[in-house]
Amino acid sequence: MLPEFFEFYNPTKVVYGIGIARDFRAELDVLGIEKYFIISDQVINDLGLVEKVKKGLIDAGIRITGIFLDVPPNSEIKTVSSCAEQAKASGAEGLIAIGGGSVIDTAKATNILICKGGDLIEDHSGVHLLTEPLMPLVVIPTTAGTGSEVTTVSVIYDEENKVKIPFTDKFLLPDIAVLDPEMTSSMPPKITASTGMDALTHAIEAFVGVQWSPFSDIFAIGATELIFKNIIKATENGDDLEARGAMLVASNMAGTAFSHSMVGCVHAMAHAVGGLYHVPHGVANAILLPHGMEYNFEEIKEKLMRLAPAVNEDISGCSADDAARKIIAAIRKLTGRLNEMGALSLRLRDAGVPEDGLPEAADAAVADGSSWFNPREVVAEEILTHMKNAY
Ligand SMILES: [Fe+2]
Repeated sequence: MLPEFFEFYNPTKVVYGIGIARDFRAELDVLGIEKYFIISDQVINDLGLVEKVKKGLIDAGIRITGIFLDVPPNSEIKTVSSCAEQAKASGAEGLIAIGGGSVIDTAKATNILICKGGDLIEDHSGVHLLTEPLMPLVVIPTTAGTGSEVTTVSVIYDEENKVKIPFTDKFLLPDIAVLDPEMTSSMPPKITASTGMDALTHAIEAFVGVQWSPFSDIFAIGATELIFKNIIKATENGDDLEARGAMLVASNMAGTAFSHSMVGCVHAMAHAVGGLYHVPHGVANAILLPHGMEYNFEEIKEKLMRLAPAVNEDISGCSADDAARKIIAAIRKLTGRLNEMGALSLRLRDAGVPEDGLPEAADAAVADGSSWFNPREVVAEEILTHMKNAY
């Protein structure tokens, strides 16, 4: 059965290759501009990754008008304002983001401010408010998790009100995503594990979400399979470029899935504990994913059966209940192995959440925009029970 209505819009060009971030001039030619402003962070810069990309660009005759390196792990409104001010003053015609989700989301929000001006929250937060394209944006991910290089979404932390503000618009989709496994090979095991689990959460929440389509399903299943086959290898050995590449592609595919089908209560809870207690996004999702699936169990159990081959589970002869339990158990087994490797926490208590802070977090999860797309209404009292289970 098909949904009554769906759409699939995927205009970002994706290029993949080991070492491609050193030279992708041919891709930039299509955009027809020569002055780019680079957005990244200090950690990526210290690893020499900004220099690697910059050298290739300069050798290819591209002019770099400036570099902004002050993006924090959870980008804030003031970061975006300062970045936009510098990029605009530099005379840039386009933006190149080199980094993880925070850097990419900063670049998207910066693009809004440069092109539209005004106040980021007052004038631009929300859904589909832009009316025309922004300046070209090229994204080179250095983590394999957010998939932000192919999504319509940017999430920026509002430091005053302690909430994460989403910006969603088709004009936030980057023009080009450059996937180079070498750019992710210096990620430490903990970041590899948590960002990879963020990607798995995107895939699974998109797969069971109310806004699903046959297109988002295929991307979600493909991403799930690649993550199950490669997350342990990439976490164990960062130099395994094949596993790194597979995780980058999986993150990208999961990004495409959730950019269309959105995410649900796991992300709602993760945004809540991230905003209130600074639990890193991927860690929060990894802890909460099986609990969110249990919250939705009755609504999603039939559909979860289709994930069995991707998670390498044999469900032949199983009832929907037993099959769905096997899928959830496979996810727990995966996070359990990552935990044994010292790469992942399994409980909210180990991630810095105070027990008496759970009710406030449950209320924040209900208010979070991701809850709108959950297969089951997110009710504070009931979601709190599952958050307590994750504590
Ligand atoms: Fe996420």
